[in-house]
Amino acid sequence: MSRPQVLLTRRIPAKALARIEEMCDVEFLDGGSLTAAELAAKVPGKHGLVTMFIDPVDAAVLAAATDLKVVATVAVGYNNIDMTAAKARGIVVTNTPDVLTEATADLTMAILLGMTRRIVEGDRLVRKGGWKGFSFDFMLGSDLRGKQMGIVGLGRIGRAVAARATAFGMRIAYTRGRPEPGDEAEAMPLDRLLATSDVVSLHCPLTPDTKHMIDQPALARMKRSAYLLNASRGPIVDEAALAWALENRLIAGAGLDVYEDEPKVHPGLLNLDNVVLVPHLGSATIETRTAMADLAAQNVVAVLSGKPPLTPVG
Ligand code: DGY
Repeated sequence: MSRPQVLLTRRIPAKALARIEEMCDVEFLDGGSLTAAELAAKVPGKHGLVTMFIDPVDAAVLAAATDLKVVATVAVGYNNIDMTAAKARGIVVTNTPDVLTEATADLTMAILLGMTRRIVEGDRLVRKGGWKGFSFDFMLGSDLRGKQMGIVGLGRIGRAVAARATAFGMRIAYTRGRPEPGDEAEAMPLDRLLATSDVVSLHCPLTPDTKHMIDQPALARMKRSAYLLNASRGPIVDEAALAWALENRLIAGAGLDVYEDEPKVHPGLLNLDNVVLVPHLGSATIETRTAMADLAAQNVVAVLSGKPPLTPVG
């Protein structure tokens, strides 16, 4: 029997690739930003497709992929894949949960500290020669101890962020979540969470329901001393509204790892000192990216061998 054909939109670490190559023929694309039309032209005859969260796997791509059995996205979020179309065509979709939880939670905390202790702003000031020496009331930030961390989306990553925030002495509130026994987190509706939290951290998936969940009215509900963190998906926050809120000091600051139209960033954010801008690095450690690629490869091999996938979605 001929070997299954697998398309990878980018190169992945050697160990993960070797897993796929053991039983399949592999074709790579160059990465970069692929349009749906470019992807659709490449999928005919492919049995497996390994994608990143920026690849648009829409209904037309799936329609062109007449032999496709599995789409393995190397990410936990899968909002780039038309799940209804995949289901209708019997195509298995898999993601890479768990392996990136700790790295993403670590980065969230890094951004939180970068924001509340003004580390990035301070670094910029030092580099441009603006530091005039110690002064008692210079560049004061905010403590975390005793403050409320409001988690929107208490899933795997939200819970890992909650554990870290608890270790920093914060109390946890959440909305949209699945608490587990032993979680010390107070459930509350979004409006109350926004109005009472000192930090609001977003960890929910992007769906039609969460798109622009943080809009102008939501930002206006937050405390003037509060910070917003987004390490989930950019379109959950209305970036223009956020730029307005930061500019007008409606909230104290924000930290973003994700953007509405990556790699573009709303121009209104670029000159503000009270926002930390990170280029989508949530899961970007060597260990985590290696584990993500390996899990995606295992999923491809499992499905193409007629076995159940390890981490299916939908
Ligand atoms: C994810 O896994 O969804 C991240 O955004 C990409 O690493």
